[in-house]
Amino acid sequence: MEKYLITGGRGYIGSVLTRRLSRSGSHVVVVDNGLVGGPQLDLPRVSYIDGDVRDAGSWETALDGVDAVVHLAAIVGDAACEVDTNTAWEVNYLGTIRVAEACRRAGVRTLVHASSCSDYGVTADAEVDVWSPMAPQSVYAESKMRSEHHLLSLPRHALTPRLLRFAAVHGLSPRMRFDLAVNVMTANAVAHGGVTVHGGTQRHPFLHVEDAAAAVQLILQDDRAAPSIYNCGSGEENYRIHTIGELIAEEIAGVRLDIRKEQQDSFNYRVNFDPIGWELGFTPSHRVVDTVRDIRDAMRKGRFTDFGSPRYSNHLTAAAQREAPVSV
Ligand SMILES: NC(=O)c1ccc[n+]([C@@H]2O[C@H](COP(=O)([O-])OP(=O)(O)OC[C@H]3O[C@@H](n4cnc5c(N)ncnc54)[C@H](O)[C@@H]3O)[C@@H](O)[C@H]2O)c1
Repeated sequence: MEKYLITGGRGYIGSVLTRRLSRSGSHVVVVDNGLVGGPQLDLPRVSYIDGDVRDAGSWETALDGVDAVVHLAAIVGDAACEVDTNTAWEVNYLGTIRVAEACRRAGVRTLVHASSCSDYGVTADAEVDVWSPMAPQSVYAESKMRSEHHLLSLPRHALTPRLLRFAAVHGLSPRMRFDLAVNVMTANAVAHGGVTVHGGTQRHPFLHVEDAAAAVQLILQDDRAAPSIYNCGSGEENYRIHTIGELIAEEIAGVRLDIRKEQQDSFNYRVNFDPIGWELGFTPSHRVVDTVRDIRDAMRKGRFTDFGSPRYSNHLTAAAQREAPVSV
């Protein structure tokens, strides 16, 4: 049976992926420093190491017998990275280099790296594919882009990088995040009866967290020797932001939709996701509306009454830790 090591496996995507791989019979070792307080799930064949990706030497014996590494650990999100940009570069870029070096020393050939469609930045209405120029608009996106460059520059005989540029993720996870657009807009609609959309015409692609984990599982089964890069998402889930607001208003009775045209955000991109479907057979099985319903129903049952708490937000967690630093 396969054995995988997941960095950042206590996080939003990582905890869903850990659960999925465990359920399919794989052994999983999670390396995570608990920065955002994600859970250690009690699952068969899953073990946890309290480790930092910047200090891979301290946990690299855990790579013995591992078939592939999935590298998810990062300071995630533009705002969280802006709290302390030096630490963001250290964790996101240097951490990736350290994990790749550890893989090479241990003879682990496959490294799946979580990258982001936000690397494309603002592209007006043109559709982008993996060969389109990148225009990162933040330290977060730039650290992801440079990590990709590093992995792709390594000698092919040493490591096979598999890069997944995820669309913006949404949905329920054992480590819930309410700093993600669909999740927080839905929670606000349920709690306060309103959705505020800034700008509205800018486009984003979206991806359910279970589908993000399913894509990682698929790419782990890809045994081609060449490196690969995929945009990970679905053409049908490219939305203008006001459409997300309208969709939420349709699903939650009585919700007011407030579109503030004066403020745009720094992303606008429409992404082509065809190759991951053609080559890996990836077809997402959830849509944005599923998350809207899941969060609505969970909140109606009394969950997430504290959805504004810092523990659900990478940015607020990072800001609180800067006030009261913890040693990592
Ligand atoms: N969620 C999204 O919308 C999205 C979109 C595109 C790409 N991604 C990428 O997917 C990956 C996972 O994102 P997520 O949404 O699960 O974020 P997350 O913040 O929930 O998870 C990140 C995990 O990394 C851990 N971590 C942070 N610094 C660490 C360190 N120095 N050493 C070890 N562990 C550390 C955290 O404790 C956390 O468990 C990230 O690489 C992110 O850039 C996410």
